[in-house]
Amino acid sequence: MENLDAIRQAAVLIREARKMVLISGAGLSVDSGVRDFRSSSGWWRNIDPRTVATVEALETNYDLFHDFYSMRINHLHSVVPHHGHHILAEWEGRGILTCIGTQNVDRLHQAAGSQNVHELHGTIRTFRCHSCGKPHSESAFLQKEKCACGGKLRPNVVLFGESLPSDAWNQTINAIQEADVVLVIGTSLQVAPVNQLPFLTSAPRIFINAEETGHEGQFDVFVKGSALTSLVAIHAYIDSDRSNESV
Ligand code: APR
Repeated sequence: MENLDAIRQAAVLIREARKMVLISGAGLSVDSGVRDFRSSSGWWRNIDPRTVATVEALETNYDLFHDFYSMRINHLHSVVPHHGHHILAEWEGRGILTCIGTQNVDRLHQAAGSQNVHELHGTIRTFRCHSCGKPHSESAFLQKEKCACGGKLRPNVVLFGESLPSDAWNQTINAIQEADVVLVIGTSLQVAPVNQLPFLTSAPRIFINAEETGHEGQFDVFVKGSALTSLVAIHAYIDSDRSNESV
């Protein structure tokens, strides 16, 4: 499908949507300067996730665990949402997009103004004691402080092997089942159970991704390109249509 045609088809579906659900992944944040995980420049290209993103890593190699998350947290201090995040927030304001289920832990959706965001893999913007669960500040984590109970501090990210937050999961599943369009942006769809979500619906499915992932055939529309340029193009098409209609 020619990309312009895909952009047009996506815009027509999105313009008419009143209960669209977005499932977003790390590729959406790449246009804000945040690394993804599995593309050629992704984190897992030179780090084995088992050495940093598991409970075992936290418990047996805290220095490496702490270095990995501190680096990502400090990087986020200089990161802002891009125009694509703001377009998604505007679509929520227009009553087109009603729910975001994100795998992203950077809170860029919220920073752009999106309200109904479910963090399916948690976040690295808030912290707790791994032993007693007491909340702690970012600076306490970055300074490698210990909890009063003696426990280690960690971000509230879902580590491999941990269960997803049930409220975020249930709310996203319910929204998917009610959806009139499901939009998926910037994910390799390799990590369960989130990679099953887009297919738990009979609604039309749109996929925006920089690369083929092998899942394109399961979508009604596949836009190959960056999230930012694709969202800007779709939004421009919708707005040009609106201005024609209003004439
Ligand atoms: N625009 C759109 N898509 C992009 C862009 C971009 N600018 N840059 C990269 N991509 C695509 C990549 O081609 C890739 O297919 O986004 C996808 C990102 O896939 P992953 O890196 O696997 O990220 P994600 O799917 O979110 O990973 C899921 O894995 O490591 C865990 O917990 C982590 O939440 C993460 C989960």
